[in-house]
Amino acid sequence: MSQSEEKTYPPLPKVPVHVGIIMDGNGRWAQARGLPRIAGHQAGTENLRRILRATVEFGIRILTIYAFSTENWERPREEVEGLMNIMERMIDQELPELHREGVQIRHIGRMERVPERLQEKIRYALDLTRNNQRLILNVAFNYGGRAEIVDAVRRIIQDGISAEQVDEALIARYLYTAGLPDPDLIIRTSGEMRVSNFLIWQGAYAEYYVTPVYWPDFDKDEYYKALTEYARRERRFGRVPG
Ligand code: IPE
Ligand code: IPE
Ligand code: MG
Repeated sequence: MSQSEEKTYPPLPKVPVHVGIIMDGNGRWAQARGLPRIAGHQAGTENLRRILRATVEFGIRILTIYAFSTENWERPREEVEGLMNIMERMIDQELPELHREGVQIRHIGRMERVPERLQEKIRYALDLTRNNQRLILNVAFNYGGRAEIVDAVRRIIQDGISAEQVDEALIARYLYTAGLPDPDLIIRTSGEMRVSNFLIWQGAYAEYYVTPVYWPDFDKDEYYKALTEYARRERRFGRVPG
């Protein structure tokens, strides 16, 4: 364990229940070191391990991570294949420990286009960990916020729901995140000031935090900084302060 992981952090006055992370900047992290992009994705995956540990330690109950977007298929074939392989290896290597630690793994996104063998591993991981309660880890993989809304509308129509029955609560029940509270805090690494199709419905009133730090370098200290900033924010939800 590195020094920063042994460090104790003063308790925060309020901790978000649900955190979303747009894990961005793997490619730039690699490029800055003269390495291929895929080395950045590997480093990013290793970072995920320590961020998961920190998430439990900080008392966060739900974490949604953006791992692969519906738009990321447009990347070069080798990179897409590399990302699929990394996902498979991650499940193979980390699943036993995640299960032991009480992590419930969920998937949000479409299964179509995901290689069959990886689909099977994902389904196995979801099934194995379904009763775990310590942390809900929502993996946004082949995820797009617009695709999610399209899928919801299709199912609403298939279920024969009438126009009068459609309200915000009903739509929320048809999203991939049905039953989970909306994210309180969405963190984006590597400085980009955009949402990139992540939780566009659920994030309507999320607090956003953007750091220039690339994802592989986003450590527990950086995480604590984000949570400190969140604790200082005044959430108003359209009302007047106080
Ligand atoms: C995020 O890092 C990981 C994925 C999108 C899969 P990027 O690969 O987008 O890294 P940059 O933004 O090019 O640096
Ligand atoms: C968002 O990052 C997707 C993930 C982190 C998985 P991108 O790097 O794909 O987003 P853009 O292209 O900068 O908007
Ligand atoms: Mg990026």
